[in-house]
Amino acid sequence: MTNEFARHRRLRQSANMRALVRETVLSVNDFIYPLFIAEGEGVRNEVSSMPGVFQLSIDNLKEEFDEIVSLGIKAVILFGLPVEKDDVGTGAYHNHGIVQEATRYIKEQYPDLLVIADTCLCEYTDHGHCGVVEDGNVLNDPSLELLAKTAVSQAEAGADIIAPSNMMDGFVTAIRQGLDAAGYTEIPIMSYAVKYSSAFYGPFREAADSTPQFGDRKTYQMDPANRREAMREAEADMEQGADFLIVKPALSYLDIIRDVRNEFDAPVVAYNVSGEYSMVKAAALNGWVDEKAIVLEKLTSMKRAGADLIMTYHAKDAARWLSE
Ligand code: PBG
Repeated sequence: MTNEFARHRRLRQSANMRALVRETVLSVNDFIYPLFIAEGEGVRNEVSSMPGVFQLSIDNLKEEFDEIVSLGIKAVILFGLPVEKDDVGTGAYHNHGIVQEATRYIKEQYPDLLVIADTCLCEYTDHGHCGVVEDGNVLNDPSLELLAKTAVSQAEAGADIIAPSNMMDGFVTAIRQGLDAAGYTEIPIMSYAVKYSSAFYGPFREAADSTPQFGDRKTYQMDPANRREAMREAEADMEQGADFLIVKPALSYLDIIRDVRNEFDAPVVAYNVSGEYSMVKAAALNGWVDEKAIVLEKLTSMKRAGADLIMTYHAKDAARWLSE
């Protein structure tokens, strides 16, 4: 009679037994921490929709980066908040742009910390779109030139990895050629290969002041309803030489993370985006959920789905909890 059904509970009977059979283990090495760097001095603004996340000017980075490094976080991704914007996003590829200057500061003070530069124009254009706009349309190929220029100036400033997020077709080729021509053949490209047009970016657009001033991003970012199309996007980026593949957002797109994991050998990065962070924070601040348990569960789920790395605003908290 005893073997009539499987005894799954045998392997769950103690904490040590569960540890022995655990399939997915979260580590601080998995995390990439996103930061919003503001031009100017003395800036330290908490983003109202993202409690615990701040816009910081370079003179306020020391405390933040001492903490990041002491927690064992190995990589950060930088978003810039320029004082001035124009219609071609000059601030994105200016040699003294905010991300370039912040990169120089960080690499000087914390040479081992990996700096990933988000390569996009939307934080720097007055219209808020990720590329060049003409007659209300976001133009593909003219945007590529500016993106390549942005990537080269970020590499010049010392960025370790270039992460293009603007979803123009051919951006990996354009950036790879630009980097190689400038001598940066060893700088990897972490491509936002599969980026959906998502309402989950809402709080980020407040944090980065990058809301499109007209229309939306649906002609370049993907339709949340599509799964097969994600494979075409990822495949194109692999063919163009992407070194990492990002899937974004993460939580509502775990099926896509799994598909990309199954199909490609490159490291897969899940971007646990702003709205996903804000929802947990709001519920936690109300006492409705156990923040630590829920954050560790959702990050574990992203890894279980197939992500190797996770970009997350929870990185500092999670690193702290994992070391307890
Ligand atoms: C820039 C960019 C966005 C995010 C990362 N890079 C915003 C967007 O596409 O509108 C979103 C990140 C987040 O929500 O945390 N193109």
